[in-house]
Amino acid sequence: MHKIKKAIIPVAGLGTRMLPATKAIPKELLPIIDKPLVQYIVEEAIEAGIQEIIFITRSGKEAIENHFDVNFELEKALKISGKNKILKSIRDIIPKNLKITSIRQENPKGLGDAILCAEHIIKKEPFAVLLPDELLMSNSKKNDLSEMLSQFNETKSYQILVEKISKKETEKYGIISPKKPIKKGEKVISLKSLTEKPLPSKSPSNIRIIGRYLLPPEIMNSIKLIKPGKDKEIQLTDAINNLITNEECEFNAIISNSQIFDCGSKEGFLNANIAFSLKDKDLKNIIRRRFNK
Ligand code: G1P
Repeated sequence: MHKIKKAIIPVAGLGTRMLPATKAIPKELLPIIDKPLVQYIVEEAIEAGIQEIIFITRSGKEAIENHFDVNFELEKALKISGKNKILKSIRDIIPKNLKITSIRQENPKGLGDAILCAEHIIKKEPFAVLLPDELLMSNSKKNDLSEMLSQFNETKSYQILVEKISKKETEKYGIISPKKPIKKGEKVISLKSLTEKPLPSKSPSNIRIIGRYLLPPEIMNSIKLIKPGKDKEIQLTDAINNLITNEECEFNAIISNSQIFDCGSKEGFLNANIAFSLKDKDLKNIIRRRFNK
Protein backbone atom coordinates (compact mmCIF):
# COMPACT_ATOMS: atom_id res chain seq x y z
CA MET A 1 0.00 0.00 0.00
CA HIS A 2 1.30 3.47 -0.96
CA LYS A 3 2.12 6.09 1.69
CA ILE A 4 0.07 9.28 1.41
CA LYS A 5 2.27 12.06 0.06
CA LYS A 6 -0.16 14.09 -2.08
CA ALA A 7 -2.85 16.51 -0.92
CA ILE A 8 -5.56 18.23 -2.93
CA ILE A 9 -6.61 21.71 -1.78
CA PRO A 10 -9.69 22.93 -3.69
CA VAL A 11 -9.58 26.73 -4.03
CA ALA A 12 -12.09 27.32 -6.83
CA GLY A 13 -14.93 28.61 -4.61
CA LEU A 14 -16.41 32.07 -5.19
CA GLY A 15 -16.23 33.29 -1.58
CA THR A 16 -19.70 34.84 -1.71
CA ARG A 17 -20.10 34.79 2.08
CA MET A 18 -17.18 37.21 2.44
CA LEU A 19 -18.13 39.79 -0.22
CA PRO A 20 -17.21 42.58 -0.85
CA ALA A 21 -13.76 41.60 0.56
CA THR A 22 -13.50 38.73 -1.92
CA LYS A 23 -14.55 40.61 -5.06
CA ALA A 24 -10.96 40.88 -6.34
CA ILE A 25 -9.06 38.87 -3.70
CA PRO A 26 -9.43 35.07 -3.42
CA LYS A 27 -11.03 34.22 -0.07
CA GLU A 28 -8.13 31.83 0.59
CA LEU A 29 -5.75 34.82 0.67
CA LEU A 30 -7.61 36.76 3.36
CA PRO A 31 -5.17 37.12 6.27
CA ILE A 32 -5.39 35.57 9.68
CA ILE A 33 -3.18 38.17 11.40
CA ASP A 34 -0.41 38.55 8.76
CA LYS A 35 -0.56 35.24 6.92
CA PRO A 36 -3.10 34.22 4.26
CA LEU A 37 -5.50 31.50 5.28
CA VAL A 38 -4.26 29.08 2.59
CA GLN A 39 -0.71 29.31 3.95
CA TYR A 40 -1.90 27.89 7.28
CA ILE A 41 -3.54 25.01 5.39
CA VAL A 42 -0.38 24.29 3.37
CA GLU A 43 1.70 24.42 6.60
CA GLU A 44 -0.72 21.97 8.24
CA ALA A 45 -0.20 19.56 5.33
CA ILE A 46 3.60 19.96 5.43
CA GLU A 47 3.61 19.32 9.20
CA ALA A 48 1.83 16.02 8.52
CA GLY A 49 4.49 15.00 5.97
CA ILE A 50 2.70 15.86 2.70
CA GLN A 51 5.18 16.43 -0.14
CA GLU A 52 2.97 17.49 -3.04
CA ILE A 53 0.09 19.99 -3.05
CA ILE A 54 -2.43 20.13 -5.87
CA PHE A 55 -4.56 23.27 -5.97
CA ILE A 56 -7.86 23.02 -7.83
CA THR A 57 -8.38 26.56 -8.96
CA ARG A 58 -10.20 28.71 -11.50
CA SER A 59 -9.68 31.93 -13.44
CA GLY A 60 -9.22 34.98 -11.22
CA LYS A 61 -7.36 33.04 -8.53
CA GLU A 62 -3.82 33.37 -9.93
CA ALA A 63 -2.76 35.30 -6.82
CA ILE A 64 -2.79 32.01 -4.86
CA GLU A 65 -0.15 30.54 -7.19
CA ASN A 66 1.84 33.79 -7.00
CA HIS A 67 1.82 33.66 -3.21
CA PHE A 68 3.71 30.36 -3.26
CA ASP A 69 6.05 31.45 -6.07
CA VAL A 70 9.24 33.53 -5.95
CA ASN A 71 8.81 37.33 -6.15
CA PHE A 72 12.25 38.42 -7.42
CA GLU A 73 11.57 42.19 -7.38
CA LEU A 74 10.30 42.17 -3.82
CA GLU A 75 13.14 39.93 -2.62
CA LYS A 76 15.73 42.19 -4.27
CA ALA A 77 14.22 45.34 -2.72
CA LEU A 78 14.11 43.76 0.75
CA LYS A 79 17.72 42.56 0.40
CA ILE A 80 18.96 46.02 -0.61
CA SER A 81 17.16 47.67 2.31
CA GLY A 82 18.50 45.03 4.74
CA LYS A 83 15.03 43.85 5.84
CA ASN A 84 16.27 40.31 6.37
CA LYS A 85 13.59 39.10 8.75
CA ILE A 86 10.80 40.06 6.34
CA LEU A 87 12.82 38.64 3.45
CA LYS A 88 13.05 35.30 5.25
CA SER A 89 9.28 35.31 5.92
CA ILE A 90 8.46 35.53 2.21
CA ARG A 91 11.30 33.29 1.01
CA ASP A 92 10.72 30.36 3.31
CA ILE A 93 6.96 30.00 2.78
CA ILE A 94 7.37 26.44 1.55
CA PRO A 95 10.23 23.94 1.86
CA LYS A 96 12.36 23.38 -1.24
CA ASN A 97 11.22 19.77 -1.67
CA LEU A 98 7.48 20.60 -1.71
CA LYS A 99 5.91 20.33 -5.17
CA ILE A 100 2.95 22.57 -5.98
CA THR A 101 0.75 22.05 -9.02
CA SER A 102 -2.45 23.78 -9.95
CA ILE A 103 -5.29 22.61 -12.15
CA ARG A 104 -8.28 24.60 -13.29
CA GLN A 105 -11.82 23.37 -12.73
CA GLU A 106 -13.76 24.39 -15.85
CA ASN A 107 -17.23 24.63 -14.30
CA PRO A 108 -18.19 24.94 -10.63
CA LYS A 109 -19.91 21.56 -10.47
CA GLY A 110 -19.20 20.75 -6.83
CA LEU A 111 -16.49 19.35 -4.55
CA GLY A 112 -16.59 15.86 -6.11
CA ASP A 113 -16.00 17.34 -9.55
CA ALA A 114 -13.13 19.48 -8.20
CA ILE A 115 -11.38 16.38 -6.80
CA LEU A 116 -11.86 14.51 -10.09
CA CYS A 117 -9.88 17.26 -11.89
CA ALA A 118 -6.71 15.88 -10.22
CA GLU A 119 -7.24 12.26 -11.35
CA HIS A 120 -4.24 12.27 -13.73
CA ILE A 121 -1.90 13.47 -10.95
CA ILE A 122 -3.27 11.22 -8.22
CA LYS A 123 -3.07 8.15 -10.51
CA LYS A 124 -3.52 5.00 -8.39
CA GLU A 125 -2.37 6.44 -5.06
CA PRO A 126 -4.30 7.27 -1.89
CA PHE A 127 -4.31 10.99 -1.10
CA ALA A 128 -5.43 13.70 1.33
CA VAL A 129 -7.97 16.47 0.80
CA LEU A 130 -7.90 19.69 2.86
CA LEU A 131 -10.74 22.20 2.48
CA PRO A 132 -9.19 25.62 3.10
CA ASP A 133 -12.28 27.31 4.59
CA GLU A 134 -11.74 25.30 7.75
CA LEU A 135 -8.83 26.53 9.83
CA LEU A 136 -7.76 24.14 12.58
CA MET A 137 -5.98 25.25 15.73
CA SER A 138 -4.54 22.07 17.18
CA ASN A 139 -4.94 21.37 20.89
CA SER A 140 -2.15 18.80 20.88
CA LYS A 141 1.43 18.43 19.62
CA LYS A 142 0.37 16.22 16.71
CA ASN A 143 -2.12 17.89 14.36
CA ASP A 144 -5.31 16.10 13.27
CA LEU A 145 -3.99 15.32 9.79
CA SER A 146 -0.89 13.62 11.27
CA GLU A 147 -3.18 11.61 13.55
CA MET A 148 -5.31 10.59 10.56
CA LEU A 149 -2.18 9.50 8.66
CA SER A 150 -0.99 7.43 11.63
CA GLN A 151 -4.38 5.74 11.80
CA PHE A 152 -4.27 5.07 8.05
CA ASN A 153 -0.76 3.61 8.22
CA GLU A 154 -1.75 1.36 11.13
CA THR A 155 -5.20 0.19 10.04
CA LYS A 156 -5.22 0.77 6.25
CA SER A 157 -8.67 2.35 6.73
CA TYR A 158 -9.37 5.65 5.00
CA GLN A 159 -10.13 8.56 7.33
CA ILE A 160 -12.60 11.42 7.64
CA LEU A 161 -12.20 14.08 10.32
CA VAL A 162 -15.37 14.84 12.29
CA GLU A 163 -16.73 16.78 15.27
CA LYS A 164 -19.95 16.90 17.27
CA ILE A 165 -22.32 19.75 16.46
CA SER A 166 -25.76 20.73 17.67
CA LYS A 167 -28.52 18.89 15.82
CA LYS A 168 -29.96 22.08 14.34
CA GLU A 169 -26.76 22.61 12.30
CA THR A 170 -26.83 19.33 10.35
CA GLU A 171 -28.18 21.04 7.22
CA LYS A 172 -24.82 22.84 6.73
CA TYR A 173 -22.55 19.77 6.63
CA GLY A 174 -21.93 16.19 5.61
CA ILE A 175 -23.14 13.97 8.48
CA ILE A 176 -21.93 10.50 9.44
CA SER A 177 -23.89 7.43 10.42
CA PRO A 178 -21.77 5.19 12.71
CA LYS A 179 -21.81 1.38 12.40
CA LYS A 180 -22.29 0.94 16.16
CA PRO A 181 -23.43 3.28 18.95
CA ILE A 182 -20.48 5.50 19.90
CA LYS A 183 -19.00 4.77 23.33
CA LYS A 184 -18.01 7.63 25.64
CA GLY A 185 -14.48 8.86 24.87
CA GLU A 186 -14.30 6.87 21.61
CA LYS A 187 -12.12 8.71 19.06
CA VAL A 188 -12.19 6.42 16.03
CA ILE A 189 -15.62 5.49 14.66
CA SER A 190 -16.43 2.81 12.03
CA LEU A 191 -18.74 4.20 9.39
CA LYS A 192 -22.01 2.82 8.04
CA SER A 193 -22.86 5.70 5.70
CA LEU A 194 -22.67 9.45 5.04
CA THR A 195 -25.40 11.96 4.15
CA GLU A 196 -24.79 15.41 2.69
CA LYS A 197 -26.54 18.24 4.57
CA PRO A 198 -29.60 16.39 5.94
CA LEU A 199 -32.47 18.18 7.67
CA PRO A 200 -32.10 17.94 11.47
CA SER A 201 -35.23 15.77 11.60
CA LYS A 202 -33.71 13.29 9.11
CA SER A 203 -30.08 13.43 10.23
CA PRO A 204 -28.52 10.06 11.18
CA SER A 205 -26.38 11.72 13.91
CA ASN A 206 -25.06 15.07 15.10
CA ILE A 207 -21.48 14.34 13.98
CA ARG A 208 -20.36 16.40 11.03
CA ILE A 209 -17.58 16.08 8.47
CA ILE A 210 -14.78 18.65 8.81
CA GLY A 211 -12.86 19.36 5.61
CA ARG A 212 -10.02 16.83 6.08
CA TYR A 213 -10.11 13.47 4.31
CA LEU A 214 -7.76 10.59 3.44
CA LEU A 215 -9.17 8.96 0.32
CA PRO A 216 -8.50 5.93 -1.88
CA PRO A 217 -7.79 6.27 -5.62
CA GLU A 218 -11.07 4.37 -6.21
CA ILE A 219 -12.90 7.58 -5.27
CA MET A 220 -12.27 8.92 -8.78
CA ASN A 221 -14.40 6.22 -10.43
CA SER A 222 -17.01 6.58 -7.73
CA ILE A 223 -17.24 10.34 -8.50
CA LYS A 224 -17.70 9.52 -12.21
CA LEU A 225 -20.60 7.21 -11.40
CA ILE A 226 -22.66 9.48 -9.11
CA LYS A 227 -25.40 11.84 -10.22
CA PRO A 228 -25.63 15.44 -9.00
CA GLY A 229 -26.88 15.41 -5.38
CA LYS A 230 -27.55 18.15 -2.82
CA ASP A 231 -27.74 21.60 -4.46
CA LYS A 232 -27.43 19.79 -7.84
CA GLU A 233 -23.68 19.44 -7.29
CA ILE A 234 -21.41 16.40 -7.66
CA GLN A 235 -20.93 15.74 -3.95
CA LEU A 236 -17.75 14.15 -2.58
CA THR A 237 -19.85 12.88 0.33
CA ASP A 238 -22.05 10.83 -2.06
CA ALA A 239 -19.01 9.33 -3.80
CA ILE A 240 -17.45 8.29 -0.45
CA ASN A 241 -20.81 6.97 0.72
CA ASN A 242 -20.99 4.66 -2.30
CA LEU A 243 -17.55 3.23 -1.54
CA ILE A 244 -18.63 2.58 2.07
CA THR A 245 -22.03 1.08 1.34
CA ASN A 246 -20.72 -1.10 -1.53
CA GLU A 247 -17.97 -2.24 0.88
CA GLU A 248 -15.29 -1.33 -1.66
CA CYS A 249 -13.15 0.43 0.97
CA GLU A 250 -13.10 0.67 4.77
CA PHE A 251 -13.55 4.16 6.21
CA ASN A 252 -13.25 5.51 9.76
CA ALA A 253 -14.28 8.83 11.20
CA ILE A 254 -11.81 10.33 13.61
CA ILE A 255 -12.83 12.96 16.17
CA SER A 256 -10.91 16.21 15.85
CA ASN A 257 -8.70 17.46 18.61
CA SER A 258 -8.68 21.06 17.35
CA GLN A 259 -10.57 24.28 17.61
CA ILE A 260 -12.18 24.75 14.21
CA PHE A 261 -12.88 28.06 12.48
CA ASP A 262 -15.04 28.32 9.34
CA CYS A 263 -13.09 31.16 7.75
CA GLY A 264 -15.49 31.33 4.79
CA SER A 265 -17.90 33.11 7.18
CA LYS A 266 -17.53 36.46 8.94
CA GLU A 267 -18.00 34.88 12.36
CA GLY A 268 -15.36 32.18 11.83
CA PHE A 269 -12.91 34.60 10.22
CA LEU A 270 -13.21 37.06 13.11
CA ASN A 271 -12.95 34.32 15.75
CA ALA A 272 -9.87 32.87 14.03
CA ASN A 273 -8.14 36.25 14.03
CA ILE A 274 -8.88 36.74 17.72
CA ALA A 275 -7.93 33.18 18.74
CA PHE A 276 -4.63 33.23 16.79
CA SER A 277 -3.81 36.71 18.18
CA LEU A 278 -4.42 35.50 21.72
CA LYS A 279 -1.88 32.72 21.09
CA ASP A 280 0.80 35.33 20.27
CA LYS A 281 2.41 36.90 23.37
CA ASP A 282 2.77 40.44 21.95
CA LEU A 283 -0.61 40.58 20.23
CA LYS A 284 -2.30 39.18 23.32
CA ASN A 285 -0.91 42.08 25.37
CA ILE A 286 -2.03 44.60 22.73
CA ILE A 287 -5.60 43.21 22.83
CA ARG A 288 -5.60 43.19 26.64
CA ARG A 289 -4.45 46.83 26.83
CA ARG A 290 -6.82 48.07 24.13
CA PHE A 291 -9.95 46.27 25.27
CA ASN A 292 -9.17 45.98 28.96
CA LYS A 293 -9.58 42.18 28.86
C1 G1P B 1 -18.25 20.51 2.14
C2 G1P B 1 -18.70 19.05 2.19
C3 G1P B 1 -19.40 18.76 3.52
C4 G1P B 1 -18.48 19.11 4.68
C5 G1P B 1 -18.01 20.57 4.54
C6 G1P B 1 -16.95 20.89 5.57
O1 G1P B 1 -19.39 21.33 2.10
O2 G1P B 1 -19.55 18.79 1.10
O3 G1P B 1 -19.75 17.40 3.59
O4 G1P B 1 -19.13 18.92 5.91
O5 G1P B 1 -17.44 20.84 3.25
O6 G1P B 1 -16.50 22.20 5.46
P1 G1P B 1 -19.35 22.88 1.63
O7 G1P B 1 -18.95 23.66 2.83
O8 G1P B 1 -18.35 22.97 0.53
O9 G1P B 1 -20.75 23.20 1.19
